[in-house]
Amino acid sequence: MAGSPNRGVLCYFITFTSMASKKIFGNPKKLRREKERMEAKGDTSFTSVMAITETCQQNIPQQYVLPRSQRPNTTLVDQISTSLPVIDLSMLDHPAHRSQLILQVHTACNQLGFFQVINHGISTMVMKGALDSAEEFFDLPSDEKMCFASADVHKPVRYGTSMNHELDQVFYWRDFIKHYANPISEWIDLWPSSPPTYKEKMGNYGMLMNLLQKKLIEVVLESLGLNANYLQDDIKEGSQVMAVNCYPSCPEPDLALGMPPHTDYGTLTILNQSHQGLEIMDHEKKWHPVPFIEGALIVQLGDQFEVISNGRYKSIPHRAVVNVQKKRFSIASLHSMRLEKKVGPAPELVDEQNPVAYKEGSFGEFLDYISVKSPTEGKYMDILKIHERRNVGEV
Ligand code: OGA
Ligand code: NI
Repeated sequence: MAGSPNRGVLCYFITFTSMASKKIFGNPKKLRREKERMEAKGDTSFTSVMAITETCQQNIPQQYVLPRSQRPNTTLVDQISTSLPVIDLSMLDHPAHRSQLILQVHTACNQLGFFQVINHGISTMVMKGALDSAEEFFDLPSDEKMCFASADVHKPVRYGTSMNHELDQVFYWRDFIKHYANPISEWIDLWPSSPPTYKEKMGNYGMLMNLLQKKLIEVVLESLGLNANYLQDDIKEGSQVMAVNCYPSCPEPDLALGMPPHTDYGTLTILNQSHQGLEIMDHEKKWHPVPFIEGALIVQLGDQFEVISNGRYKSIPHRAVVNVQKKRFSIASLHSMRLEKKVGPAPELVDEQNPVAYKEGSFGEFLDYISVKSPTEGKYMDILKIHERRNVGEV
């Protein structure tokens, strides 16, 4: 089980043979020492936020209190959130409206890297069913959930808290279970068997998300002027991680966050939520609460699309806030190319005016990176960025 010496040695070996051979970031010796230190701790258990809230305290524990500058109420938030884009996907069914839809997607991706979709074809019953099974899972007694506990980001199924409880200096008010989902037949046996309907409801929802992401990727590619079939096979066999998040109500929501500001690594993420709580950051670094729209799904561009687009589109920075009354659930379906697939800018989007702006990267290398670095310590994406060198004397 979690933390047994054999498993520890095996994980260590797998992680380090792949990491050492790639030598893509930092100093491999330093990374190895850091990882050894973490493995030596060998402690996979933790106190979940659900367990903390069961004790009915009026204050949050000190390790959840963010430094002043990172608290949600101290950063400028546009409370009105005037016009965040909402796109009607049924326009895809009408050839006459398709080009209008592509234009709307282009504007949304260009300005933000974010939009909500309505009329996407996923029934409210399926969406709610998945959120209900998430709620039932987090309501289970702690030891049933702890069987899935791991801080090893390479695990195909893992239960955890905060972002990575072994790395985080400040903790976030969030418990989660993440599982691989594509192809579903390969992974579903590893998912929780309790609650009894979890596999059926979450599995059904996950398969529909995988179909929807293919459709969405096609329109985003088209909106970049690329062929809708670009990287089609890689997208079909791509990786899908379902991050099922639970944000218990928080007695001091102004001092904590459910998730820190981050971008998602993959191509795109589709988010289904029980209540409002997501905030996105625009190009002027202003935070906007995303309004809750019943039945809508949230689409966010990830780092792989930023790379493919050669920087024309940017991945959207986002965070989750918590609230004093309601426990909130969300399911983020995170899509990316398969683990080993190296992704670089589309050749069609590279020319003299737009030279290659990113090195190739992969989901596997991203996981190696975050296994030793917390999101506040730096981003894998930043080491992919190529900073153009100017000649001396050039302005
Ligand atoms: C994520 C995420 C936001 C939310 O899981 O990557 O950003 O609102 N979730 O739960
Ligand atoms: Ni995210």
